[in-house]
Amino acid sequence: MNVFDAAARPDEPALLARRRRNFGAASVLFFEAPLEVMRGEGAWMIAVDGRRYLDCYNNVLSLGHCHPAVAEAVARQSAALTVNSRYLTEGVERYLEALKATLPPALSNAVLVCSGSEANDLALRVAASATGARGVIVTEAAYHGNTSAVADISPSSWRRARAPAHVRIVPAPSPAAFGEDVAGGFAAAVAEAAASLHGAGFGLSALIADTIFSSDGVHSGPAGFLAEAAAAAHAAGGLFIADEVQPGFARTGEAFWGFARHGVEPDIVTMGKPMGNGFPMAGMATRPDLLARYCEEFGFFSTFGANPVAAAAGLAVLDTIALEGLQARAEAQGRRLRARFTEIAAVDGRLVAVRGAGLFFGLELADAGLARRVINGMRERGVLIGAAGRTGETLKARPPLTLTDAEGDLFAGALEAALAAA
Ligand SMILES: Cc1ncc(COP(=O)(O)O)c(C=O)c1O
Repeated sequence: MNVFDAAARPDEPALLARRRRNFGAASVLFFEAPLEVMRGEGAWMIAVDGRRYLDCYNNVLSLGHCHPAVAEAVARQSAALTVNSRYLTEGVERYLEALKATLPPALSNAVLVCSGSEANDLALRVAASATGARGVIVTEAAYHGNTSAVADISPSSWRRARAPAHVRIVPAPSPAAFGEDVAGGFAAAVAEAAASLHGAGFGLSALIADTIFSSDGVHSGPAGFLAEAAAAAHAAGGLFIADEVQPGFARTGEAFWGFARHGVEPDIVTMGKPMGNGFPMAGMATRPDLLARYCEEFGFFSTFGANPVAAAAGLAVLDTIALEGLQARAEAQGRRLRARFTEIAAVDGRLVAVRGAGLFFGLELADAGLARRVINGMRERGVLIGAAGRTGETLKARPPLTLTDAEGDLFAGALEAALAAA
C-alpha cells in the first residue's frame, strides 16, 4: 500500500542506500520518492529541504505533531521518575481512572502495554482462557499486529501464507459484499464462520474487528451494523474484541470509541496509536471476571507498560481532547470535508465512494493504479495520505483532530487537483 519501489528508483540518494543496507528486506517506505522529514508542528511535517507537508495520514499524532501539552508532560515526568508497574505511582492510577471514564463501566480493568500488537495478543489470550476455545474470526484485509499470534489473524500482512487452521476469514462489511443489508449479511457470515470453527473442533474464541475496518478500506456505515455480528459471535460462544487502535480516542467524531458508534458493548477493547500522541503506549480493557480467569492460568508483566511517563502522556492526551473539544471538532470538520468529497465524486466518477466517520476518510477510487497516482500527486502538492483496501484502491486519510478549515480546504483542493491530473 503506497509502498516505495526501490527497483523503480536506480538513482538512489545516499540516505536511502544507508536505510536499505540497515533495514534490509524489512525496509518499507511510503511514496514513489520517499520523504526525509526533520520536524513536525501541528498538522504539518517539515522535510529536510524546508518544504512543509500537510500530514493527513498520521493516526498517531492525533492532536497534531509535538503537541506542547504532551511534550511537557513527558519531559516533566521523565525528569521525575520512570519505573515499572510493580511500584505504586499515583499518576498511573489517575490515568487509568480517566481512561475508564471513557469506556463502558463493565470494562473496569485495564492492562497497559507498549504496542497495539501486544494489546491484541493479550486480548486473544484472555479470550482463549475465558472460552476454552481457539478459533478466531477476522475480516479479509484486517491488520491486528505483528506478534506470532496476531500475525495469524492479520490477512493484510500475509504474502504467501493462507489462513491458519484456527482462523476463519469473512468479507469486509460493505454493500459490495452484502448488498443493502450489511448488518444481516455480515452477521450471517460471522455465524457461518463460527459454525465452521465448531465443526473443525476449534470452537469460537473471538470475533475481532477494527471497528472502522481501516485496512479493509474504511467501512464505517451504516453505524450499528457491528451489533448483529457481535451478537452472532456471542451466540456461538465467542467473545467480541473491539480493536480500537485506529478509530479510538475521538477520531470518528460521533463517539469516543468506534464500537460506541455501533451501539455495541465489547467484551474486550484494545487501543494504541494515538493513545500517547507519539509516546509508545497501548492497552487492553476488559471485565474483571475475564481478566481474573486469565490470571489464574498466567502471570502478566510488561516492563514498560504502565510506566509513569506513559501515564503522563496518556493523561495529557485525554485532557487535551476534552479541553480543545476535539471530538466535536472531528465530527464537524469530517462532515464538512465529506460533503466536499461527495461534490468531487459527483463530477469525477472515478471517485467511486466516499466513506468514513469524523476525521477518518476512506475514498474508494476506480482502481489501485489510480489511487497510487493520486497519492503521489497529492504528495507533490504537499499533502500526505495513504492507501487501504484489498488491492489498495481506497485512499485512506486521517488528519489530526485539530485540522482547521483552511487546512481542510488545502487537503480537498490537493485531492481534486491530483485526481484531475491522474
Ligand atoms: C487496527 C490495528 N490493530 C493493531 C495494530 C498494531 O499496532 P502496533 O503497530 O502498535 O503494534 C495496528 C497497527 O497499524 C492496527 O492498525
